[in-house]
Amino acid sequence: MAQINDNFIKIPATYLFSEIAKRVAQHKEENPTAPIIRMGIGDVSLPLPDASVDAMIVAANEQRSAETFRGYGPEQGYAFLREAIVENDFKSKGIAIESDEIFVSDGAKSDTGNIGDIFDVSNRVAITDPSYPVYVDTNAMGGRAGEPTASGAWTNLVYLPCNAENNFVPALPTEKVDLVYLCYPNNPTGTTLTKKQLAVWVEYAKANNAIILFDAAYEAFITEENVPHSIYEIDGAKDVAIEFRSFSKTAGFTGTRCGYTVVPKQLLGTSSTGEKVQINKLWNRRQTTKFNGTSYIVQRAAEATYSAEGKKQVKALLDFYKENARIICEGLIKAGYTVFGGVNAPYVWAKAPAGLGSWDYFDYLLKEKNIVTTPGAGFGASGEGYVRFSAFGSRENTIEAMKRLEK
Ligand code: MLT
Repeated sequence: MAQINDNFIKIPATYLFSEIAKRVAQHKEENPTAPIIRMGIGDVSLPLPDASVDAMIVAANEQRSAETFRGYGPEQGYAFLREAIVENDFKSKGIAIESDEIFVSDGAKSDTGNIGDIFDVSNRVAITDPSYPVYVDTNAMGGRAGEPTASGAWTNLVYLPCNAENNFVPALPTEKVDLVYLCYPNNPTGTTLTKKQLAVWVEYAKANNAIILFDAAYEAFITEENVPHSIYEIDGAKDVAIEFRSFSKTAGFTGTRCGYTVVPKQLLGTSSTGEKVQINKLWNRRQTTKFNGTSYIVQRAAEATYSAEGKKQVKALLDFYKENARIICEGLIKAGYTVFGGVNAPYVWAKAPAGLGSWDYFDYLLKEKNIVTTPGAGFGASGEGYVRFSAFGSRENTIEAMKRLEK
């Protein structure tokens, strides 16, 4: 009998968003005409930018002829996209990143999950709490999390609580850690760190030989000046940080799938014998072995988001969701909620009425208001007592949901 990786039986039986989908499907089955409004998983509702669709059509037509047909592409991504990323996301903002530090992928979920492959099981991992469940679950799968406790917390992970009391700014760990997951603008709370606050983490990583895994999937939603779009805006961050980016929320690629990871060449790790090793080389080795690249057609679609037309269309998408987030904040406040986030992020983090747990309140909103949210407790213990509203729905549904809550 083949023996399985036991870590898979230690993790919760279903992934958070699969559990929510299951509960929503059951509610729908029991109430087939229920006018359900989905504000749960951050899945976009507006179509792709025309520029991306046009680029995909051209790229698809290229596949008809032997002269322009593409087979296997570079595992790291085509030069046309890596160079467009360097130019538009970094160089234009005064950040020096080279194209061989960019690894194009099918999205930040895969990369933030897969990055653990190149780090030893002995690393001490710090994760903000609440957090995107992929960080905890994949460390548990990889054996770095230890054992789950009754509260759902894992014995070997170092949790960094982010709550209203500390203004959602994680305190530095009191014990030495080797890897730190930071996601800013934050999923799920929608809160941010200022440049000064992020610089504290870069300093910490330098002083402790730690690596920061910085998930910047929501940077395009930033509206405030002093909020960094990239960790590389902070001096010295290229020595200590990997950054994850995504076209999913920025340009509507949740179904099309494209993202990228930045692994600076100067970022080093240590082998068991004390030798310094370039992390960029290890990630390249991992990707070339386990990944055959994002499809050419999709990479052309991603490249098109950087064209003049593409930029205008992406801005229109972002403006639409930002306005939804504003409507949600305003509606929830009017309905008496305490809310956080929503200003630099497409997520609004709302306190459940006193005494109600996240899942209870999630069930109440689903059954009584036909509104799907995400229970805060699903993102970690510090999320208990909160629910997350996503701003990615239609305008009509967003307004209607707020009306239902006001009642
Ligand atoms: C979320 O709702 O947190 C995200 O959409 C999930 C994801 O990006 O995988």
